[in-house]
Amino acid sequence: MKPVQIGVIGTGSISAMHLNSYEKNEEATIYAVCDLNEERARKTAEKYGAEKVYTDYRELLADPNIEAVSICTWNNSHAEISIAALEAGKHVLVEKPLCRTVEEALKVQEAVEKSGKILQVGFVRRYDTNAQLLKGLADKGEFGEIYYAKAQTFRRLGNPGGWFSDIKRSGGGPLIDIGVHVIDLCWYLMGRPKPVSISANTYRKLGNRSNIKDLSFYKAADYDAERNTVEDLANAIIRFENGASLMVDVSFTLHAKKDETTVRLFGEKGGIEVEPETLIVSEMNDRIVNIYPQTDHKSFEFNSAFQNEINHFVDNVKNGTEPISPVQDGVEIMKILCGIYESAAKGEEVKL
Ligand SMILES: NC(=O)c1ccc[n+]([C@@H]2O[C@H](COP(=O)([O-])OP(=O)(O)OC[C@H]3O[C@@H](n4cnc5c(N)ncnc54)[C@H](O)[C@@H]3O)[C@@H](O)[C@H]2O)c1
Repeated sequence: MKPVQIGVIGTGSISAMHLNSYEKNEEATIYAVCDLNEERARKTAEKYGAEKVYTDYRELLADPNIEAVSICTWNNSHAEISIAALEAGKHVLVEKPLCRTVEEALKVQEAVEKSGKILQVGFVRRYDTNAQLLKGLADKGEFGEIYYAKAQTFRRLGNPGGWFSDIKRSGGGPLIDIGVHVIDLCWYLMGRPKPVSISANTYRKLGNRSNIKDLSFYKAADYDAERNTVEDLANAIIRFENGASLMVDVSFTLHAKKDETTVRLFGEKGGIEVEPETLIVSEMNDRIVNIYPQTDHKSFEFNSAFQNEINHFVDNVKNGTEPISPVQDGVEIMKILCGIYESAAKGEEVKL
């Protein structure tokens, strides 16, 4: 069978993870790239041997040779480009977050249903081998009912600037950018319970701290520290229909002593930690035991998780199979993220 012809839209920082992974997948060909910044798109095309270069995604989508696209643009264009791609008959892998609002998310879902095409949301943490190991055990009931989860992603210094810190283009700050990963991972491992209420806070206390010297961090391709209209800290407690709850806090910057990510879940029969190190907590013969699965990586491994995500997408396109991170999950996560922002803005609990 012919390799799947891929178009990559947005050739900034994260696109390299998509492109490197497609390059290593024998069943895919990087056929076209597109970016508003023509020079960036041209350089990417040269590096990866793409035949076509576009600056307007509509022209890329009109190319009949393209079967599937990766969308790696700013969050404000995810919904628009996803819908246009589906209407043009392309399968879609869209970076997280699915979009900026629940309204946009529902429109994307409608377009998926109408087109019958695949849309996979880039919840890359689900694709990590350790996350899959734990998911397999959770689904078998090894931990019993998971009734509490607690996740934290603290960057002490890490506002990526540019569009990330412009709320119109990003939809929000650390919550929608990095909180989305750990919220999704907990929700996925908990068995995707229905969220019913949220109580949350956001803070804009420290700015982007672009004054800090001698510490490097992830930056947008067009880094610019001038504008910053997003929160620098968010926290929330999310209650689910089955009585389970998830507590989360995330920052772009905070007076914390170091960057820190922790993801922990607690069930009736056992507990798990995904970060900082994959761990299972259980009981054996009236003793508490901490079990460290022996796998290649102690925790999340970015490169292999991305490769798994891309391989899964290519497989789905070839076989017409449903992704493990489908559009419905993207919609549910948007409900949670937007519920958090709404609760924080109102200063009270919101019901979903
Ligand atoms: N999965 C992850 O771990 C992860 C990590 C970082 C970023 N991301 C996501 O990837 C996306 C891109 O982030 P980034 O860090 O690469 O940003 P970036 O600013 O480095 O790159 C974005 C690129 O998209 C281009 N672009 C924007 N709108 C466009 C349009 N309408 N048509 C064509 N090109 C357009 C920009 O010119 C830029 O080159 C975001 O949605 C972000 O949330 C995911």
